[in-house]
Amino acid sequence: MIFNSTLTDSTPSLISPVVPPNLLVTDSPIKLGIMASGSGSNFEAIAQAIADKQLNAQIQVVIYNNPNAQVAARAQKWGIPAVLHNHREFASREDLDQQIVQTLQQFNVEWLIMAGWMRLITQVLLDNFPNQVINIHPSLLPSFKGVRAVEQALKAGVKIAGCSVHLVSLEVDSGPILMQAAVPVLPNDTHETLHARIQLEEHRILPQAIALAAQK
Ligand code: GRF
Repeated sequence: MIFNSTLTDSTPSLISPVVPPNLLVTDSPIKLGIMASGSGSNFEAIAQAIADKQLNAQIQVVIYNNPNAQVAARAQKWGIPAVLHNHREFASREDLDQQIVQTLQQFNVEWLIMAGWMRLITQVLLDNFPNQVINIHPSLLPSFKGVRAVEQALKAGVKIAGCSVHLVSLEVDSGPILMQAAVPVLPNDTHETLHARIQLEEHRILPQAIALAAQK
């Protein structure tokens, strides 16, 4: 375990497991597909880790479902194709996932990363990427699954919060946990300040967890 005191807001964090840097770089580049609905800061953290050679991977495509998602502009900045599959244009969740699978296959994606994907997924996705779908969630799972996880944690009055990266199964925010980071909840925290502290950790552990998963 690592106690980290180098965060910009100088609060300590705890990350587990510790992955030695030499274990993080796989022999061949991992071909990633990213699914995101919002800002895309986790997408960018992965892109930055690749650029910094901390992760041997290539982002083949970003899929987003919300026409206003900021992630599209971020992908453009990195020169990475971004494809909109607007969920409102599909009759069912399965139809949407079928279209997503088709796009991921076109782009030769091996590992699928849900980085702020705000839709329920179906078996269609999991059947096509068995044990190859990863999600990041802003809580210490199995606590506070589902939407507004940070608000749930604040409301519950927990003193330690955090984030989890896990392999995806059909049930929301479930599946084997790959990596977690914990941060303190500070006395005057709002949803925004706590989420910002958690996101610093998300950006740190998501690239590491991808490398860890791809080695197994
Ligand atoms: C993150 O907090 C992630 O844990 C959750 O959605 C948020 C996405 O943030 N699933 P961003 O779009 O990557 O900035």
